[in-house]
Amino acid sequence: MSWAVQDYREYLEEILIPEEQLQQRIAELAAEISRDYEGKLPLLICILRGGVMFLTDLIRYLTIPHEIDFMAIESYGKGRREPGEVRLTMDLHTSIRGRHVILVEDIIDTGNTVAQVLEMLRVRHPKSLKVCALLDKAERREVPVPIHYRGFEIPNKFVFGYGLDMDGYWRNLPFIAVPDLNRYRPPKPLPQEDED
Ligand code: PRP
Repeated sequence: MSWAVQDYREYLEEILIPEEQLQQRIAELAAEISRDYEGKLPLLICILRGGVMFLTDLIRYLTIPHEIDFMAIESYGKGRREPGEVRLTMDLHTSIRGRHVILVEDIIDTGNTVAQVLEMLRVRHPKSLKVCALLDKAERREVPVPIHYRGFEIPNKFVFGYGLDMDGYWRNLPFIAVPDLNRYRPPKPLPQEDED
């Protein structure tokens, strides 16, 4: 199936955090983590998929040995989600028992995702468990979550780019952007062409 995807420039309202500012802050976070985890071989865990860009840039700036791993979750009824509605769809490859774990997230919005993932991880007895989030939409918080390393607090606006998507697209942009939703058209399936 092919999809018609609108060019983001047609609905770009503003660039909230430009590339240079993002990279500078990520380097600062990595320097902080490198200092705090000297000699501790931390394991950085990324929740797929939004946090991938942040994780890969963050670890490029780390100066200490570390490992990475990934997990995927599915959330039901996003927007009107109740706690308890997050399900693990892909588990870690690494045992975290006795490890220093840092959970890496692109954005914390209501806090439901991170709160529940922290619960899932805590019962596996890591030695320590901290949260590193690039974006904190604090105004939207429903569940309190500890954020030990925070990139930016952002206003309550829909954002995309740098790992965050518009209906699955434009995660690749190197900046955090705000769309004008009045000018946005969701992807549409193109009429099927006959295959040879
Ligand atoms: C985003 C983000 C967090 C979650 C935050 O993921 O990556 O995991 O939402 O929202 P919350 O604080 O209200 O729980 P999304 O569900 O958009 O999936 P994706 O990362 O695959 O894009």
